[in-house]
Amino acid sequence: MRKTLAEIRSMKAEGKRISMLTAYDSSMARLLSCCEVDILLVGDSLGMVMLGYDSTVPVTMEEMLHHTKAVRRGAPDAFIIGDMPFGANHTGERDAVMNGIRFLKEGGCDAVKLEGGLVMCGVVRALVEAGVPVMAHIGLTPQTASQLGGFKLQGRGLDDARRMLAEARGLEAAGAFGLIIECIPDGLAQVITESIAIPTIGIGAGVHCDGQVLVSHDLLGMFDKFTPKFVKKYANLSPIIKESIQQYNQEVKTGAYPDTKHSFSSQADYRQLLNE
Ligand code: KIV
Repeated sequence: MRKTLAEIRSMKAEGKRISMLTAYDSSMARLLSCCEVDILLVGDSLGMVMLGYDSTVPVTMEEMLHHTKAVRRGAPDAFIIGDMPFGANHTGERDAVMNGIRFLKEGGCDAVKLEGGLVMCGVVRALVEAGVPVMAHIGLTPQTASQLGGFKLQGRGLDDARRMLAEARGLEAAGAFGLIIECIPDGLAQVITESIAIPTIGIGAGVHCDGQVLVSHDLLGMFDKFTPKFVKKYANLSPIIKESIQQYNQEVKTGAYPDTKHSFSSQADYRQLLNE
């Protein structure tokens, strides 16, 4: 059953932890929704995982919508969040609202996610007023990672921590229904989580968040370019996939595949066609 916004919000009050994972295509979306994951995120991480870009920056709205539609087809009953790609919410509130609406109308999403702190409060408010629910994202924000000094822990010192707490409060006041906090110390995540009424979803932010999110390909061991410290690999599928493909390749070349078990036969004498 698809969760409602109200149910997601009330999970925090009821002390129920929220599980969220990325999905970029129909078959993964189907698997995740069979496992009753609360929220599927069509993250712009798809740029690196699926499209081979070096960062999330080049990802376009059209690419996001293409994948979001596939995820919706695979998981008609899932609560799906579409990730605003870099540029979709940076050129003014009107553009942000137009793009947010596209995620709902064309992509079949229930909500959008966007990166950024206090500077994004106006955009969040405009989207919510237009009827587009927003999950905010602070801490390590990959779209602007170079400005943050790279992919590293954020909010270490008290000044940064204070700023991040102000961002969390500001985004809540602007109408965000949830907040992703990425790659910050667990103690700071705990303080943020206790300071706001909307659920926090952590990624590399420790156990005190109201929920957790990971990139599915990371937890399944299917993306081996790099693995952040906070990723727990629940499976290591890359070697299994490689072995299976090597075996297929070998069997095709030796003629071991397809065998009779994987072929169709008939009583007809087709060889007579050679003489016609
Ligand atoms: O793009 C993404 O997948 C994300 C999550 C990992 C939070 O932003």
